[in-house]
Amino acid sequence: MQVPYEVPRLSVSSAPMGATDTDLIIIPIAQDHVAPAVAAYDNVVGGDLSSALERGEFHGKACEIYVSRRPGQNWRTARVMFVGGGPRAEIDAERVRRMAATAAQSARQQRLGRVAWADVEPGALSTTARVEVIAEGVTFANFDNGVYKSRNDRQFFITDAVILTGDEAAAAAATGRATGESINAARVLVNEPGNYLTPRILAEKAQALASVPGITAEVLDERAIESLGMGMLLGVSRGSVEPPRLLVLRYAPASAPAGATLGLVGKGVTFDTGGISLKPADGMERMKDDMAGGATVVAALRSIALQQLPINAIAVVPMTENMPGGKATKPGDILRSASGLTVEVNNTDAEGRLILGDALWYARQRGATHVIDVATLTGAVVVALGKITTGLYGTPEPWVNHIRAAAGRAGEKLWPLPLFEDYREQLKSEIADMVNSPGRPAGSITAAMFLKEFAGEGAWAHLDIAGTAFAEEVKPWQPKGATGAMIRTLVDVARGGLPGV
Ligand code: BES
Ligand code: MN
Ligand code: ZN
Repeated sequence: MQVPYEVPRLSVSSAPMGATDTDLIIIPIAQDHVAPAVAAYDNVVGGDLSSALERGEFHGKACEIYVSRRPGQNWRTARVMFVGGGPRAEIDAERVRRMAATAAQSARQQRLGRVAWADVEPGALSTTARVEVIAEGVTFANFDNGVYKSRNDRQFFITDAVILTGDEAAAAAATGRATGESINAARVLVNEPGNYLTPRILAEKAQALASVPGITAEVLDERAIESLGMGMLLGVSRGSVEPPRLLVLRYAPASAPAGATLGLVGKGVTFDTGGISLKPADGMERMKDDMAGGATVVAALRSIALQQLPINAIAVVPMTENMPGGKATKPGDILRSASGLTVEVNNTDAEGRLILGDALWYARQRGATHVIDVATLTGAVVVALGKITTGLYGTPEPWVNHIRAAAGRAGEKLWPLPLFEDYREQLKSEIADMVNSPGRPAGSITAAMFLKEFAGEGAWAHLDIAGTAFAEEVKPWQPKGATGAMIRTLVDVARGGLPGV
């Protein structure tokens, strides 16, 4: 039976490399520094590494790999793999995660199921921070996006991973493994094609993903959504035969300080055709990923609960297809939101902001004081920041900075864009409170300005992951497809607690 990922058994051990019974020992090395333990090992095997470095066959560049079949005498492994880290000063959390994922993917390709990581290159990180991302990287790499192939040679997984480091890092390894697992579960949902992931199926699968101790779930159906007056969510779903859903998850541990509640809101469009404002055929298949924000917030809340972080949090995910059916919302139609604002839909392809507007309002209704929404919202953010960096928007500034700092710690890239009042001009409608599609200039900013109208009082931020949710290019540490971007950042926001803003 094919499965999209497996979670490896993961342990830490303070045994020496030579005594470790495994198929492969992975040794990280910096480009400008060979750790003493590695130099000593190299000496024993007759300079295999140093001659590869001299020949220029290997340099230690970031994520470069060199496999040696010459382990030390009496070693209990058949192979040793060196993975480059680049210059030592550059070896941060994201670099180590990528090195671990690259080495683990390479091990899988060589069908080596038991691996050990020699923690000999500290880089610029503490032991616990490093071990956490090593565990996360190995788990992340144990992922296979070929499960719909009838002949799939990628179906080989790492079963056991040992990190050779101090025993005190065991908890960090377990945390990294759990985060990696949550990320992989989200990636599976994002990669799932629209026919296998309708709003109803997404609601079920997301609920299953979040069924960990401490989380309670509710799924609101189309009638409940109607009673709440969510005219924007209903307006988008009307073009589809598939009914919408609204998933609400709540995590409220006894350890959490009363008052503040983190509200995570994620876009859950299971397929975005554009609706009557139909998208061009070229590349439309990508729009199966338009529920990535929803998967992100569910996976993040799952990790927050598994780590038993002392914080109140809710997740709200509006789920729908955006289809051009006979009952579909038409350009020029006016929708009434749950908050009471009316919207002239001048482009049915700007559907994300509509469903998120109702969901943001609902998150406040349910007590969220600090809100973050995550969405594959605009092509414009890809123009601005490419596929590298997530767009960050929000208010007030200390809240935005809190999220920036969390992303920095998590090793994820996001960057703020402004929400100057002058941009509001573009939202004006002749006949309703606003339009949903304010034109090309500053398209990702005006999308955020639209959301802001529904975000209510208090801290709010919006992450536009249209560029970062899905990799179009294979990287040594990551196949094509869903990336799991921003899950770690959200968990780190929760770890940092909620600031009084
Ligand atoms: N889901 C798309 C945004 C998107 C585009 C995500 C490319 C990933 C890659 C969103 O619903 C959309 O269609 N946005 C429109 C908005 C426009 C009509 C104002 C866009 O960006 O073109
Ligand atoms: Mn759209
Ligand atoms: Zn969309």
